[in-house]
Amino acid sequence: MANDASAVFDTLSPAVSKGSLADPFTPPADSALWRKNFLLGAATASYQIEGAVDEDGRLPSIWDTFSAKPGKVLAGDTGAVACDHYHRWEADIEMLASLGLEGYRLSIAWPRVMDAAGVPNRKGLDFYKRLLNRLKEKGITTFVTLYHWDLPQHLEDRGGWLNRDTAYRFADYADLMSRELAGTVDAWATLNEPWCSAYLGYGNGHHAPGLANDRFATQAMHHLLLAHGLAVPVLRANDPASQKGIVANIGRGTPNSDSAADQRAAHLFEVQHNAWILDPLLKGAYPQDLFELWPGTEPLVLDGDMETISAPLDFLGINYYFRTNVASDGAHGFRDVPLEGVERTQMGWEVYPDGLRDLLTGFKKTYHNLPPIYITENGMASDDQVTDGHVDDTQRISFLKRHLAAVDQAIKAGVDIRGYFLWSLMDNFEWVFGYERRFGVVHVDYSTQKRTVKRSAELVAKFLKERKARA
Ligand code: FCB
Repeated sequence: MANDASAVFDTLSPAVSKGSLADPFTPPADSALWRKNFLLGAATASYQIEGAVDEDGRLPSIWDTFSAKPGKVLAGDTGAVACDHYHRWEADIEMLASLGLEGYRLSIAWPRVMDAAGVPNRKGLDFYKRLLNRLKEKGITTFVTLYHWDLPQHLEDRGGWLNRDTAYRFADYADLMSRELAGTVDAWATLNEPWCSAYLGYGNGHHAPGLANDRFATQAMHHLLLAHGLAVPVLRANDPASQKGIVANIGRGTPNSDSAADQRAAHLFEVQHNAWILDPLLKGAYPQDLFELWPGTEPLVLDGDMETISAPLDFLGINYYFRTNVASDGAHGFRDVPLEGVERTQMGWEVYPDGLRDLLTGFKKTYHNLPPIYITENGMASDDQVTDGHVDDTQRISFLKRHLAAVDQAIKAGVDIRGYFLWSLMDNFEWVFGYERRFGVVHVDYSTQKRTVKRSAELVAKFLKERKARA
């Protein structure tokens, strides 16, 4: 079983390298993607792939609790087994390396590495040490996210991100991890997508811990950003050679009409999705328009918090998936107006690569101190099937090609973008959509844990091989 995935790749790759498969992926000759120093990698997250939730002293996380509640996750799926990566990590890294991917973005499960009293869990720490050491041996650039949503349940029991103390506990956790893992991490990201943690977790209740109150969302966001700000100097002190940053999901909102009200609605959509996070980080203040959308929800901010939050970053991670067409809701806000006749993915998300380019070029104008950017997630879900040992994920190949072209256009427009991570290396636990939605460039059969490299991954591998050969 252990080497299944690389065996599959070995049998498929000759067909690709001999050119017997058409190549709808390779970027044009003038694309910045051909630059050897443009990092091309893949991303995953702990709760979505690891499984082994009760093993070696791992404590429960808010996602264990949430996914166990009836009706919260499609088909009642949980991350209890997921891709069983905790046991299959060696074969998974072989697979990553055999595809020629140059970077790997992973996250650490906070409940695996320390207990409620802050006592380190050696077994959990050793797992990540082995993993990162192996990645280094393979010459793979490592991007490590400290928080990709799996908050220890014992912290949620004390208020979670509504409790300011969680930010200080996060700094302790960042301290432990950067002391233990210094030298094996090329880039640390404090948080993945604070918008999702704050808004989906505490604002509308769609994600763990499942609370629904706008005022909670703004306070949770403040504590998340404070946690980030407190952790950055700790990471700098313990691991000076690595880069430090944060990962934000960004959303494109376009107006349904030329009316002033719809233009305003699109602006407010982007304030809520982008400026809510990027303004405090890059301007040291929350956007006032946010409180027009959600009157009376200003978070409690203590003296010095905004300075802590807005300390300089080495990089900004950007996750982009789709755009939303919006109209005025007739009051303070916006409402979605789904467009007819547009291309969509298995998630129902519109395929809209221009949104990525337009947001990136817009940020460069808005934020004079915009740090170097990595696209830390981009990809799509499709209902992929294995037929005769192959997965022909045609829509994904085209999606990736078009989004990489958008990245190239943003680079040519002067945005400093240094790399791109596919979401995801393999199919995994897609949060409230469970295992039904397949985002991987590698297919996972959850009944056998067999990995099958999809055609998209083969074409990415082919491109990387050619790029290497030319260098
Ligand atoms: C992002 C998450 C990631 C994955 C993708 C599809 O919001 O960061 O874990 O679920 O969406």
